[in-house]
Amino acid sequence: MALLQLNELTKEYRRGGRAFNAVNGVSLSVEAGDFISIIGRSGSGKSTLLNMSAGLLSPTAGTVLFGERDIHRLSDKELSFLRNEKVGYVPQGQTLLSNFTVFDNVCIPWFLFKREGDVEGRAFILLEKVGISHLAASYPRELSGGEMRRVSIARALVNEPALLIADEPTSDLDTGTTAEIMALFSRIAKEGTAVLLVTHELDTLSYGNRIYTMDAGNLSPHAA
Ligand SMILES: Nc1ncnc2c1ncn2[C@@H]1O[C@H](COP(=O)(O)OP(=O)(O)OP(=O)(O)O)[C@@H](O)[C@H]1O
Ligand SMILES: [Mg+2]
Repeated sequence: MALLQLNELTKEYRRGGRAFNAVNGVSLSVEAGDFISIIGRSGSGKSTLLNMSAGLLSPTAGTVLFGERDIHRLSDKELSFLRNEKVGYVPQGQTLLSNFTVFDNVCIPWFLFKREGDVEGRAFILLEKVGISHLAASYPRELSGGEMRRVSIARALVNEPALLIADEPTSDLDTGTTAEIMALFSRIAKEGTAVLLVTHELDTLSYGNRIYTMDAGNLSPHAA
């Protein structure tokens, strides 16, 4: 059984009296250890697809199966628990909590469902891996865009998710840092986490084992 299975997933939006499918019947199977990259033009539906895959946005039609469970049929509580436990999500925008330090932002997903164990040690190792352990006591407003992005990557990994979904996670990073983050994602994929990534940077494609293109809501294997 696939870890994540998208079946004919569709999202219809209406704008100016006109309806259109931002995501148009997308099917995709994601296995443990897969590293999948999606590229495509701005507005082609990439974030909409990821948001539905992460359970943050309801589809107009189609299903998202996580293991055997249809995530859009779960109760809010069941879905929150599943997302917290199994899915790490790096959103396209900035979503850090401004009144919490970098360190606490990384730890929050761990404490949401009262886990026990050495989260402090783990959070610190993750901050080191993304190259910002020296900023642990800082607040989001004191950080650059790329530094904030790296906090949200560490936060997405703190619960050791089975699936990491990341929406252009390296868009505001320099080439060197981008390579480090992509190497980190490759390592966790090799360790069995599935990685589903949207990227604009063509140089990041070499890391994925499967590459797709999104075009006007349609997903197809990328022709090299
Ligand atoms: N809430 C909404 N209501 C109406 N249209 C929307 C809504 N959200 C997104 N759209 C439209 O759906 C399309 C897909 O948006 P989406 O954010 O998925 O694109 P994207 O591929 O992630 O683009 P980018 O590369 O710029 O991040 C766009 O045309 C967008 O304007
Ligand atoms: Mg987007």
